[in-house]
Amino acid sequence: MAYVFVFDAYGTIFDVASAARRAAQEPNQAALKQHWPQVSADWRRKQLEYSWQRTVAGQHCDFWQLTQDGLDWALEASNLSDPNLRARLLDLYWELAPFPEAKQALQTIRSNGAKTAILSNGAPQMLQAAVASAELETEFDAVLSVEDVGVFKPHPHVYQLVCGRFDCRPKDIIFISSNGWDIAGAAQFGFQTAWVNRANEPVDRLYARPAHIHTDLTQIPELG
Ligand code: LAC
Repeated sequence: MAYVFVFDAYGTIFDVASAARRAAQEPNQAALKQHWPQVSADWRRKQLEYSWQRTVAGQHCDFWQLTQDGLDWALEASNLSDPNLRARLLDLYWELAPFPEAKQALQTIRSNGAKTAILSNGAPQMLQAAVASAELETEFDAVLSVEDVGVFKPHPHVYQLVCGRFDCRPKDIIFISSNGWDIAGAAQFGFQTAWVNRANEPVDRLYARPAHIHTDLTQIPELG
C-alpha cells in the first residue's frame, strides 16, 4: 500500500512562535516587543512539560488547558501578566501561521497518491481551527487528536490511533515531527520517522533515533 504521511501539528505544520511574534507587532505592545522570544519559548516549554508531568501523574487535562497554563507561567516569568495580552495571545494560538512550505509539501504528497494526516496533542477544536485558518482543510485525510485516547504523546496508545484509523501496520506510516521526543516515541512504535530539525539541534538521547533528518518540510514528499 502507499504510505500514510502523518504529521505532528504544533512546531511541525504550525509555527507556534507566530502567536507572540504577531502580537508583538500590534500597537501598545512595547513590553512584548522586547520580550516575545522569551515568552514564546517559555510558553512552549511549559505547555510540553505540563503534558508529560500530567501524563506521568495520571492527571490528564486537554491541551487547551495546558496552553493556557503554560502561557500564564510564561507571562508571569516575564512580568507581563495582563488579561488583555493573555486573551490576545490565546486567540492567536487558534490561528497560528503555517510554515511557508507546508501546503506545497502536503499537495505533492497527495498528488503522488499517498494519504496525509495530523496526529497531535492538540484538542480537536484547536486543531480544526488551526487547519481552517491556515487553509489546509483539503490537504488532510484525517486530523487525529490524543483526546480520543486521553493521554499525550509519546504514549504508544497515541501512535496506535493512526494504525486504527488507516487500518495499516506501523511500518506503513511515515511520521514527521519537529519534536525529538515525539520522533523517539513514533520510531519505538515502529513508524518510519523524519525529524524536522528547524533549529539545528542535537539529536535527543532517547530510546530511538530518527530515520531521516530534514531542516524543513520541502523534501518530505520524496520519502514515499
Ligand atoms: C503536537 C505538539 C506536541 O502537535 O507539537 O502534538
